[in-house]
Amino acid sequence: MRFAVVFDYFCAPAAAPDEALHRPTWAEISLDAVSANTRLIRSLAAPAEVMAVVKADAYGHGAVEVARTALASGATWLGVAALEEAVELRRAGISAPVLVLSAATPAQAETLVREDVTAAVFDLEVARALAAAGRRLGRPARAHLKVDTGMGRLGVPADRRGLELALEAARLEGLNLEGVYSHFASADEPDLSFARRQAELFDRFVNEAGRAGLSFSWRHLANSAGLLNLPQARHNLVRVGLCLYGLYPSPHVDRRQAVLTPAMAWKTRLVYVKRVPAGTPVSYGGDYVTDHAMPVGTLPVGYADGYRRALKGRGRVLIRGRSCPVLGRVCMDHIMVGLDEVPDAAVGDEAVLLGRQGAAEVTAEELAEACQTINYEIVAAVGRRMPRVFVRDGRPAALRSILGTVSLGPSGSSGPSGSSGPSGGSGSSGLSGPSEPGPASEGGGRR
Ligand SMILES: Cc1ncc(COP(=O)(O)O)c(C=O)c1O
Repeated sequence: MRFAVVFDYFCAPAAAPDEALHRPTWAEISLDAVSANTRLIRSLAAPAEVMAVVKADAYGHGAVEVARTALASGATWLGVAALEEAVELRRAGISAPVLVLSAATPAQAETLVREDVTAAVFDLEVARALAAAGRRLGRPARAHLKVDTGMGRLGVPADRRGLELALEAARLEGLNLEGVYSHFASADEPDLSFARRQAELFDRFVNEAGRAGLSFSWRHLANSAGLLNLPQARHNLVRVGLCLYGLYPSPHVDRRQAVLTPAMAWKTRLVYVKRVPAGTPVSYGGDYVTDHAMPVGTLPVGYADGYRRALKGRGRVLIRGRSCPVLGRVCMDHIMVGLDEVPDAAVGDEAVLLGRQGAAEVTAEELAEACQTINYEIVAAVGRRMPRVFVRDGRPAALRSILGTVSLGPSGSSGPSGSSGPSGGSGSSGLSGPSEPGPASEGGGRR
């Protein structure tokens, strides 16, 4: 029950309880937006299927919850970067196909096979270890061949040498080389000539493999930008991350094809307000000094939560629908904001770091530009310490914090579960853990 009270604290300042377990700072993740975005992507990509890329905790949005929602909304595959991310999904009861996009190591072979997780293969040592694990465990290891068509990161060369390695791997007993893929380096740029060349190289490689007797059930190349900019590169699977979260990879994609809804909002509340005279230094180093008497507010969020130090002097938050500038340096756990625009602001007022408040909005792109980075990094950097409130059907459905995950369904909430995934709740949110038939087991079962 305590979590429900904490949630009230988030949503209704009047209900602030004594026994709150968290700072009043949280990320709201709209699973409704993830669902709508997935459906749009699915219809745009069709007949190709959709791999929901949920690596890095679903770009900060919560891997298990996003994975379940995406699978229930038309995605059939999941993509992660690390084996432990795949295991996190399995432990949450998700049985859909999962591809680890990054390099596997021989030491991981047995876990990959046992967990029925698909590995990227571009190296014979790993292929042999997977095949051996497949023979030992009595079921073939699943693998997708990674081909480097110009990203210069991972993969066999897209030529004769790469093909020979693929043919050798395909002959290994205990290994099922069921897919082939490559990755775009610049499908989000105004000049698509390099991306087109990558797409051609990939086609040529796949065709030559076919002529050599090697065919793949799954062929995939397009990321979000590839999906939007290069329809010829959809093959029979697209690997989409950023667009699932309602963001666009760059200004150089045609947004009219899919009008997406951002899934993350990031909020906090004023925990301290004071009036200071002109000449008052604010924050570490004292390099910001007020030049007039003004109200200053303190917000409990900092760079350890992903609110970047680069936002000093550049960031703004929304309070009572107005812009309030970040004053002085961003601390590990706090920022200070100028309240000239909202002189009546008071402790408990909501401050929006990312997202909408009334008609005003701070976008991930605005924050990215201020930090000289990309929107991917802004959302992915929102830290583990930040509680996530998952919203489904317009209502809070679950809360995940460092204390665990708890369902906030209408039939009541339970205490925190272990940190490995939702459990124990009895709400009707579909987020209540592996023992209940969630969307994943309905829509994502592999076999
Ligand atoms: C191999 C691979 N495929 C697909 C994606 C998804 O990319 P995006 O988020 O741009 O859709 C990524 C993300 O970086 C990736 O590394």
